[in-house]
Amino acid sequence: MACLVLRAVGLRRVAVEDPGYSDWVAVDKAGLQRVPIPVDEHGIDVDQLIATGAEGALITPSHQFPIGGVLSASRRQRLVRWLAQHDGYVLEDDYDAEFRYDQAPVGALQGLAADRVIYAGTASKTLAPALRIGWLVVPPELVRPMDAELRRWKEGSPRIEQDALAHLLQTGAYDRHLRKMRRIYRGRRKHLLDCLAAELPELEIEGMAAGLHVTLRLPFELTRADETQIVSGLRERGLATEGLGRYSQTAEGPRRLFVGYGRITDSAIASSVRLLAKAVRAAQRHEVGP
Ligand SMILES: Cc1ncc(COP(=O)(O)O)c(C=O)c1O
Repeated sequence: MACLVLRAVGLRRVAVEDPGYSDWVAVDKAGLQRVPIPVDEHGIDVDQLIATGAEGALITPSHQFPIGGVLSASRRQRLVRWLAQHDGYVLEDDYDAEFRYDQAPVGALQGLAADRVIYAGTASKTLAPALRIGWLVVPPELVRPMDAELRRWKEGSPRIEQDALAHLLQTGAYDRHLRKMRRIYRGRRKHLLDCLAAELPELEIEGMAAGLHVTLRLPFELTRADETQIVSGLRERGLATEGLGRYSQTAEGPRRLFVGYGRITDSAIASSVRLLAKAVRAAQRHEVGP
């Protein structure tokens, strides 16, 4: 919906993070052209974004997906200035801000530029992706076009589930659930990192202590083909990981694996990490020959 509205108000080219969330159907269907911009540990490269002449951007400033950086204060300021000067728009995809384990989350970008940022939240990480419930905070100028777009969505949004979520919010049960899940995920994440440190000490862990996945930077010598081999080998053994290839529009940068811990049981972590270590070692041996 946000993409259709951005197209309707005249945007044509929008910057997207590379690597980034790769569900591009909505962007492409809206007729927006994607301009991939590199990211690092401080989020999207705002100078490059500005230099491309894009008219807007779809970004994850609080916890870059999938690398895990937070958009730095200086980049935020440059982005906000640029938005004001060029009447651009940003879609702020705040998909997992509820889960920060070491410190309080940074404030939303939307708070710095409420007239230029569409803020998007979701219940997919806090409750379940299958619920299909999310929410938008929309700049005043876009409320009308967004409302018009919403009316075109004949199937609407699930009503009973929305009422149930409202009930959870009103009774405080949602907050209690978040506090409980934060504690569980923090512990699970620590256990996962401990196992990784024991089995694969040479792998660098990237990104914030946040969300429901960790990013592992693979040893330098591993190629994209090795990354693919590791991911598919693990899949055959029932372990779902993703590689950078799934999220990157270019072949550049170090190889990476993304390991989700939202659904794994604590007791399965150690044996899963041992499988992961075996797969990485096998790929390394393949690289240097038998
Ligand atoms: C970067 C990012 N944005 C958004 C979402 C949520 O999408 P949806 O609300 O459509 O389930 C996810 C879920 O995995 C995500 O990783």
